[in-house]
Amino acid sequence: MNILFIGDVVGSPGRRALENGLLTLIDRRRVDFTIVNIENAAGGFGLTVELFHELSKLPIDVFSSGNHIWDKKEIYPSLESNDRILRPLNYGSHGVPGRGWGSYQALDGTDLAVINLQGRTYMQPIENPFLEADRLLEEAGEPLPPIRVVDFHCEITSEKNALGVHLDGRVSAVVGTHTHIPTADDRILPQGTAYQSDLGCTGPAWSIIGFAPETVLPRFLTGLPTRFEVGTGPVVFNATQIVLALLTLIALGSLLAAIPNGLLGSPDMHVTGAGSDPGHLEWFHDRVVDALPRPVAISISIWFYKAAMLAWALWLSFAVVRWVRWAWDAFGARKLWQRTSGLVNPFRRGPAQPQPPATSG
Ligand SMILES: [Fe+2]
Ligand SMILES: [Fe+2]
Repeated sequence: MNILFIGDVVGSPGRRALENGLLTLIDRRRVDFTIVNIENAAGGFGLTVELFHELSKLPIDVFSSGNHIWDKKEIYPSLESNDRILRPLNYGSHGVPGRGWGSYQALDGTDLAVINLQGRTYMQPIENPFLEADRLLEEAGEPLPPIRVVDFHCEITSEKNALGVHLDGRVSAVVGTHTHIPTADDRILPQGTAYQSDLGCTGPAWSIIGFAPETVLPRFLTGLPTRFEVGTGPVVFNATQIVLALLTLIALGSLLAAIPNGLLGSPDMHVTGAGSDPGHLEWFHDRVVDALPRPVAISISIWFYKAAMLAWALWLSFAVVRWVRWAWDAFGARKLWQRTSGLVNPFRRGPAQPQPPATSG
């Protein structure tokens, strides 16, 4: 199963990147389920109803969010009525619209849960995300689907790292959002959970976390508040791809286990009575020959069946070798992970630019 997770989409440049690149990305990477964090989709701050309808036309299964989802109040009713959009679970439910997790079905038919949590360090002092996650995983009315993806919207890497370790083995993936800067620590934790501290933003490349430098830098130079505006120019597209190999291996194992059964087993034709058995059929004339229609049976040797099974097994063996070689090549050559030609990586163009300091996203 292939899950695509796209980081905080910032303003119209981020939305344009989605419109231009998402379909190609889903098609080329054979994506089964797409999650996009949209907390900055409307000019960098929140989401409007109109933009939500616009984004809903794209092949996005779940819209996750974070602290900025509250910036545009017009979206609150949609949080309540549409289960495709999530807000962090640990805002609680007392007077807070929307939901923090949902159960969905991927393109390949697999059920999965998406959980949105938010950190507390340098952020709003909401409920404890660690305990809220425990409560959801252990006390939910009915068990969550076995595949669970967590968007942890959080400011500092240590809190993200801690939640990853805390949920290791209990969820499929913990992916960080909010800082808008991708981290190079994507890995599989000891108990099997995929983890990345932050997958970065999808928005203007030559910016400060998606915003125009001239609207952000003065804040650091003078300490005075400034009004952030979304940047312009080339767009960076940050996403992470999560491949859940376990179910694939189980399916492959089941297929391989069918080979000896097909080759070595004998089909039970329910032949019994009058001295017959499954390997020998004894014919006899009925005493009411003319009263009943005369049966006609055409049979072929069991070896035709075994030959067909042998051909199928040989084809499957060669196919499995082919598939394994393809998978090995794909991982070894990073074909599954490298950028596709339709997407632009602005960091490979021209000379390096000075990196300004980052602020909260
Ligand atoms: Fe953000
Ligand atoms: Fe945020």
